[in-house]
Amino acid sequence: MTHSTSQVDTFRHIPLQPFGRVVEAPSGDARITDIPVTALTRWTEESRVLVLRGFELMGKEEFADYCRLWGEILKWEPGEVIDLIVEENPRNYLFASGDVPFHWDGAFVEADPRYFFFQCLDATPGVGGETVFSDTTAVYRDAPVEERERWAELSLTYTTEKMVHYGGETTEKLVAQHPATAVPVLRFAEPLDPSVYKNPVHVSVDGVEEAEAGTFLASLAERLHRPEYCYAHDWRKGDILIADNFALVHGRNAFNGPTTRHLQRVEVI
Ligand SMILES: [Fe+2]
Repeated sequence: MTHSTSQVDTFRHIPLQPFGRVVEAPSGDARITDIPVTALTRWTEESRVLVLRGFELMGKEEFADYCRLWGEILKWEPGEVIDLIVEENPRNYLFASGDVPFHWDGAFVEADPRYFFFQCLDATPGVGGETVFSDTTAVYRDAPVEERERWAELSLTYTTEKMVHYGGETTEKLVAQHPATAVPVLRFAEPLDPSVYKNPVHVSVDGVEEAEAGTFLASLAERLHRPEYCYAHDWRKGDILIADNFALVHGRNAFNGPTTRHLQRVEVI
């Protein structure tokens, strides 16, 4: 079914807190292609997290083809569309349902994805496991000027073992420029302690002593976790979510009970 462009105005726009937006289709059978890509891009840039509700989910191929309208798809080893499934009884329960600290996607691949797209095929709300997004543009904007000046001079080196999809070593400047809006963004991934996480990541701050670096990284993480910068998305079956991978870092809350969830993800460069 194709709607005329004027019908875009009938969608309900509901602001999320402290940022983000839900666009709801009252009929419940809208298609993502009913809204021009230019409008969705603008809304995503304005809101950083855009949730579409009342839209039909797409088949795997169709999902990839749709995302291609936005740009080149980042190919991971399993393919263009990644199935993210939390099993009810995984072999390693902690790994499957524990928290995922903040990071941006693409740190260990050649291209940083510009956007990522999710569609939610199955979810039980209220059992934890929310995807948490932190708005680094706001963290940067609100930081004291001397802090921002210090950040601007720093590069962080991330080291990890090659795991399923990624691995290696990468050095990134802490402050980067958003490719579309030109505002400063932070590129930061939290260190992952080998005693807690199956895929440890070591972070060093170039030119800073190890002990001092630890204190610095903890204070940076503390800022990013402040509630005024974080939106936690509790998934509902049928959600389509588009996020700005440059403006945000993201992670996941631990599940507080066994759950079954099925998300599909595509990343666009
Ligand atoms: Fe991620």
